[in-house]
Amino acid sequence: MIIAVDGPTASGKGTIAKALARHYGLPHLDTGLLYRAVGWQVAHTGGDPDKADDALAATAFPEALLDEPELRSEATGSLASRVSVHPAVRAALLERQRAFAHQPGGAVLDGRDIATVIVPGADAKLFVTASVPARALRRWKEMRERGEDVSREAIEADLARRDERDSTRAEAPLRQAEGAALLDTSAMPPEVAIAAAIALVDRQVAGNISSCS
Ligand code: C5P
Repeated sequence: MIIAVDGPTASGKGTIAKALARHYGLPHLDTGLLYRAVGWQVAHTGGDPDKADDALAATAFPEALLDEPELRSEATGSLASRVSVHPAVRAALLERQRAFAHQPGGAVLDGRDIATVIVPGADAKLFVTASVPARALRRWKEMRERGEDVSREAIEADLARRDERDSTRAEAPLRQAEGAALLDTSAMPPEVAIAAAIALVDRQVAGNISSCS
């Protein structure tokens, strides 16, 4: 079974995707981490994230980089959003994501274009979202726990900027795929959002089976 989970930053999609993977016993790929690794690599090799050639060269990042804690930072998230607009970067990361999705038994992938580009034929598709203030509050709490000192206003502004860039780019913009179920987690604690996601996946899979029979 292949499960595609898309949505904006801090919508809860990562937590939901991990929980779905545990629930259904499937491997999970956080595809945002791949773009974060490219963003980190380009910045640390003296390249320009807004130049397609520099960003493309950075897609050959070393595998060990995926374990670097700094990839989770806000600064790396912004770099990821900048390198992800280049079609050549998206093309370079595409096969790796498709191969992960199509491994025997299936997988859960979360990102921005999983159900629209990477695996449009996924067995279940979720579009997870939440209001900008709800997402900024979550991100602010996470950052405070890590000892980072940033104002909520600054986080809101950064999220809005990233949403705009992710949704308006020409290549694979963030949008709800056809057939994807919408899950708004603004007012949901994580366990409620996870239960809702499992119910939506079960319903989609049951629907697919009955429409095939
Ligand atoms: O999900 P995360 O915040 O880690 O993603 C970082 C950035 O990587 C996003 O803002 C987006 O620009 C980009 N991304 C993407 N396609 C994906 C996953 C992430 O363009 N499938």
